[in-house]
Amino acid sequence: MTTSRGAAAGDDANGDPRVRPVERADLLGVFRIEKAVFTQPWPYAAFEQLLDAPAFLVAEGDGAGSPDTARIDAGDVLGYVVGDLTPNHGRDLGHIKDLAVRPDVQGHGLGRRLLRAALRDLAANGASVVKLEVRESNHPAQALYSDEGFRPARRVPRYYGDGEAAFVMRLDVGEWVRRQNATEE
Ligand SMILES: CC(C)(COP(=O)(O)OP(=O)(O)OC[C@H]1O[C@@H](n2cnc3c(N)ncnc32)[C@H](O)[C@@H]1OP(=O)(O)O)[C@@H](O)C(=O)NCCC(=O)NCCS
Repeated sequence: MTTSRGAAAGDDANGDPRVRPVERADLLGVFRIEKAVFTQPWPYAAFEQLLDAPAFLVAEGDGAGSPDTARIDAGDVLGYVVGDLTPNHGRDLGHIKDLAVRPDVQGHGLGRRLLRAALRDLAANGASVVKLEVRESNHPAQALYSDEGFRPARRVPRYYGDGEAAFVMRLDVGEWVRRQNATEE
C-alpha cells in the first residue's frame, strides 16, 4: 500500500508548535510522554513498529512562546498522535491508536490540533471511517472526540489490562473533512 504522510503537517506560522510526521529521533520524547500520561504505557518497541504509519505525527516546540510555567526547548516533543489504516474492500478503516500531550502543555489546543492533523492525513490516504478506543473514565478525551464528531459505537467491558471498559468511538471522516472545509471557507 502506498501512503502519503504529512498532508496536514506544518502550520507553525503563528508561533504554535509545528505538527509534522514523526522521525526515529523523536521516539524517546514520545515514549517519555507515554510513560508520564498512561498507567499502562505502550512499550518503546510498539512505537518503533509504527514509524511508517500514515498518521504518526508529533508536535515539536520551537523554544518560543511557552505557555504558563512550561519550559519548552527547541525540538522538544510536546505531543503525538498515532493514526493507522487498515484496507477494507475500498472502505479503508482508520484507527487513532494513541494520542497524548505533555502534561505541562495540556489544555492549550494541542491535542485537538494533533487529532485534526491525523484525521486529515487518514482521510487523504483513503480512510472513510476512523475508530478509536477510549477509557470509560477518560472524560477529557471523550469530550474532545465527541466535539470533533466521534460517536460511541459500543462499550467493550474489561478492554484494558487493569479491567476498565473502553468505548469504541467512530467518525465518518469524509463528512468530517467536508465540515472542516466549510468552516475554513
Ligand atoms: C486528551 C488530551 C490528548 C487532550 O489534549 P489537550 O492538548 O490537553 O487538549 P486541548 O487543549 O486540545 O482541548 C481539546 C478539548 O479536549 C477537551 N478537554 C481537554 N482537557 C479537558 C479537561 N481537563 N476536562 C474536560 N475536557 C477537556 C475539551 O473538549 C477541549 O475543548 P475546549 O478547549 O474547547 O474545551 C490530553 O489531555 C492528554 O494527553 N491526556 C492524557 C492521555 C490521554 O488520555 N489520551 C487519550 C487516549 S484515548
